[in-house]
Amino acid sequence: MRIAITTDIHYHPPWRDRIEAFAEHLAARQPDALIIAGDIGEPLDLFHECLALFKPVAPQRAALAGNHDVWQRGAAHTSLELWEELLEEAASLHGYAWLDRTNVVFGGLGVCGTIAWYDYSGKQPGINLSDDEYERLKPMISNDGRYVNWPWTDRQMAARVGESFLERLMALQEDPAISEIIIVSHVPLFDGCQRYSGDPNREIANAYYANLSLGRRVLEAPKVRSVFSGHVHVERAVTVTRNGSTPLEVYTNPSDYGRPAALMVDTDTWAVSILRGPEPFMPNGNDDALV
Ligand SMILES: [Fe+2]
Ligand SMILES: [Fe+2]
Repeated sequence: MRIAITTDIHYHPPWRDRIEAFAEHLAARQPDALIIAGDIGEPLDLFHECLALFKPVAPQRAALAGNHDVWQRGAAHTSLELWEELLEEAASLHGYAWLDRTNVVFGGLGVCGTIAWYDYSGKQPGINLSDDEYERLKPMISNDGRYVNWPWTDRQMAARVGESFLERLMALQEDPAISEIIIVSHVPLFDGCQRYSGDPNREIANAYYANLSLGRRVLEAPKVRSVFSGHVHVERAVTVTRNGSTPLEVYTNPSDYGRPAALMVDTDTWAVSILRGPEPFMPNGNDDALV
């Protein structure tokens, strides 16, 4: 089957024409399924609009949350309300399975998803900061530090979602009807997928761009064939070797603000290609503050 996996649409009304054109571009490829892996739209009404816009892309659909989707800015819903209830409710209303809480199965293929919150295990080697310092510094580096207001620390949230994800992953791994599994996460799970590569002034932020602890646990499920993630807004492809199994192929989707893209996966051949939207109208260079 052919699955379109997109992430980081960051739906924003001034970009509607561009995002709609991208959705039509995706629909023209007639994928069997569509997965939207987080940073869909905020506040909640824009999350709804984005899901509605992509509904015609494929008959089978699934979604999961990104960090922006749980932001509370001003009088909008709290992060806790969004995470616990409202995002899943919106997904259900628009006909998307909610991968943060349930697996999706297509014949013998299992799909397991998670927001995969960062636990600082992706921090840049050579930067000698403790995990507590990464927690304290976050509001100066990432807007999550200002707009995510649930009662958990990053490490607590990463452990919570990790535990639930691993339970669902092992259920697929142990199911004899499932022969192969793909993983879709918002935050990347493997080294080499962090956002900043070769830019020492920004590499401190890599702590907020991966959950490598969870990636190590994924290696315990040999049916996992490929892993697809978002959040970093750059294209990465990494091969992870495993003892006694075929290597794991790991990809990130290069969607950026106003510049949507998708990973097109053919699960018969495991070929993966990138489908990009129209040319960007938002200049590069000054949009990092939005991440
Ligand atoms: Fe994003
Ligand atoms: Fe993100």
